Amino acid sequence: MKLDVYATIADVKKEDLPSADAVVIDVLRMTSTVTNALENGAEKIKLIGKEDEARRFSKQENALLGGERGGVKLSGFAFGNSPLEYTREKAENQKIVMTTTNGARAAEAAMDAKSVRLCSFINVSNVASHLKNSPHVIILCAGTHDAFSLDDCLCAGALAESLNAEQENDLAIAMRLLYAAHENDLQAALKSTKHYKYLESIGFTDDLNFCLRKDTHACVPIMDQDGWFENEKNKRLHDSCIS
Ligand code: MLT
Repeated sequence: MKLDVYATIADVKKEDLPSADAVVIDVLRMTSTVTNALENGAEKIKLIGKEDEARRFSKQENALLGGERGGVKLSGFAFGNSPLEYTREKAENQKIVMTTTNGARAAEAAMDAKSVRLCSFINVSNVASHLKNSPHVIILCAGTHDAFSLDDCLCAGALAESLNAEQENDLAIAMRLLYAAHENDLQAALKSTKHYKYLESIGFTDDLNFCLRKDTHACVPIMDQDGWFENEKNKRLHDSCIS
């Protein structure tokens, strides 16, 4: 396996995507939130970078709206971007269109890849196990406002450790080593970082605790051919029923 980790969407070599399996990481909080929503039974989730497009598409699809700007739920939306909002009671069987500042744009940037999955600490080992036969994995970190974000890159390091690829780019090696040094206290490693402190300052301490626990979830979100994310377990069941 060849593994390339990129710190922002601007760094990705677009020409490599069609033959690679892509993994998008936005630990705080989009990929953690979508994973929790699908684990709690949401039917499927579409990620759209632009707010007006998300509003239009949700009407067309008769779907609920979720997401944030500045970390805060948008007016008229059913959900914000807190994973804790997406309970089974509220999310089960729902189609949800989400727009978030960085994560949704990263998912859009990965769309041309052979497959696109979403990863965060809460599902990292399962994401790795779904990729073990891939010849080329590209990890695309969402970053914050087009800049390196330590939470995403540390999670890329955790995924790199589990993937154990024969060939890694330098960022994959760096993040794997950094993760190994901090895996026992992710809170300590991240508590001075920009987005962590911002989310804490606007009252999302419980989200931080939720997002920094490893392997609490089985769900691996994967993109279908229409660009919606669904639980890979359900997709496999569905695919085997129609083949
Ligand atoms: C994003 O996509 O920028 C983040 O998930 C923002 C957030 O923490 O709400």
